[in-house]
Amino acid sequence: MKGQETFFISCAPHVVPWLKQELDDLGYMPFEENYTGLFIKAPFEKCMELNFQLTTASRVLWLVDKFTATDQKQLYNKLSRIRWSDYFSEKKYITITSQTNHPSINNSMFLNQLCKDAVVDFFQSHYNIRPDSGPLRSEVVIHLHWQENKAWVYLDTSGEQLNKHGYRQNPFKAPVQENLAAAIIKATAWDKKCTFINPMCGSGTFAIEAAMMAGNKLPLLSRSNFGYMHLFDFNKKKFELLRSELALKSNFENMPAIIASDNNGYAIKATRENAERAGVDAFIEMTKCDFTETSIPDGNGVIVINPPYGERLGENIDLEALYKSIGDFFKQQCKGKTGFIFTGDLNLAKKVGLRTSARIPFYNGTIECRLLKYDLY
Ligand SMILES: C[S@@+](CC[C@H](N)C(=O)[O-])C[C@H]1O[C@@H](n2cnc3c(N)ncnc32)[C@H](O)[C@@H]1O
Repeated sequence: MKGQETFFISCAPHVVPWLKQELDDLGYMPFEENYTGLFIKAPFEKCMELNFQLTTASRVLWLVDKFTATDQKQLYNKLSRIRWSDYFSEKKYITITSQTNHPSINNSMFLNQLCKDAVVDFFQSHYNIRPDSGPLRSEVVIHLHWQENKAWVYLDTSGEQLNKHGYRQNPFKAPVQENLAAAIIKATAWDKKCTFINPMCGSGTFAIEAAMMAGNKLPLLSRSNFGYMHLFDFNKKKFELLRSELALKSNFENMPAIIASDNNGYAIKATRENAERAGVDAFIEMTKCDFTETSIPDGNGVIVINPPYGERLGENIDLEALYKSIGDFFKQQCKGKTGFIFTGDLNLAKKVGLRTSARIPFYNGTIECRLLKYDLY
């Protein structure tokens, strides 16, 4: 495919401003945005760079058709008229994902099936062959969005979603998604020069993402499979060239201090193993201690704490004391820093007892959360 193509870059709700910032840094100007992503124009081959470089994105979707479909029959007919054989071989394994609010569909599996039938029937009628299909996002992934009688048909150039950055095989307890952690760090406006401190680090996601950001190391650069690799337009030479160019850009000289602590030894073990896998273990100081004993160097710094927020009855009592002690810790030990608490429980957050200077909304899965900012004079 030559010329400008349309891509929809999707992300978690509320992540759009940080994704936009990343696109801006790469020189892309979105022409439309909604709650879950942004549209840009770019030549096809740019999807390689986008998948590698966008740390806050979930998927890079290539728009291949857009049409009106008022009912399932019309949708099937229009889907089976797309010349799928222009994009990929009939030998490919196909996965369908979809999203809809159409009143005739109450199960997205059913819509996936309808779309799969249309694609497979296209190959059957033109080439007398039925491609293999199933749920693994290992080769060609087609994404259908059917909203208010309008259908958007995408080839998912990511394949497997970009949420996972590949280093976290040991998730410990209640970890945040890697792309959400990247967005949260961007929301703190950390300058990648001053100290980054992450007490209650769990599996180390924030500290690891921060180290990668500061060293300009792209988490997804070592990933070996993307959806775009299974499309005819994929050029392996350009892929290899781009990957080595981007690898050369990482630079760990002049790294800021990055500190991670947790009172659970297994959390520190998970952080160490995950950081090793990410290649940044040498740049993170890891300590098993109560958060109040975390070493806080002098000078400017950003502190990000993601405390537990229990949802079970009775658990809130201890947590109230914990949140109150975070407030005391901030007030007494963190003067001159900017403190952040990422939590899904705003009642607990009130126990911190300090005035917030910003309350930035996010979703952690289905839980509405806030990143609360405290200026610690
Ligand atoms: C929600 S988890 C953090 C998850 C982390 N953001 C991640 O992505 O893996 C909360 C962490 O706080 C730790 N924690 C709870 N109370 C603590 C305390 N008093 N001092 C230090 N760590 C504590 C727990 O061991 C747990 O790892």
